[in-house]
Amino acid sequence: MYGEVKEIRRDGCRIEVLGRKGGFTCREDENVLAAMIASGQSLLPVGCRSGGCGVCRVKVLAGRFAAGPMSRAMVTAADQGSGAGLSCRLYPLSDMTIVPMPLRRGAGSWPGLPA
Ligand code: FES
Repeated sequence: MYGEVKEIRRDGCRIEVLGRKGGFTCREDENVLAAMIASGQSLLPVGCRSGGCGVCRVKVLAGRFAAGPMSRAMVTAADQGSGAGLSCRLYPLSDMTIVPMPLRRGAGSWPGLPA
């Protein structure tokens, strides 16, 4: 799932959030959380926006992505190996389906989490 950005898709990748209506487009040179915020939707919790708080942590269910630096306190190597990442540090390389799994329930601006 992880990889380097080699060619920027200018038309963007479609990002779907499991269990949430909507979705948004994300360019390969912008992070998933920033694209969601720019779309005006509240499909993911928003925290520090800089890879430090873990509120925006997601699991990638489908799709490929590149990952920027993430705090190991928020995403362990094992987590990352199973597809977890911080959406403020994920850059899509294809269309993606993600599910929120923040470290702190109720944190950020997202009102609810799946069980
Ligand atoms: S918003 Fe804080 S780690 Fe992404």
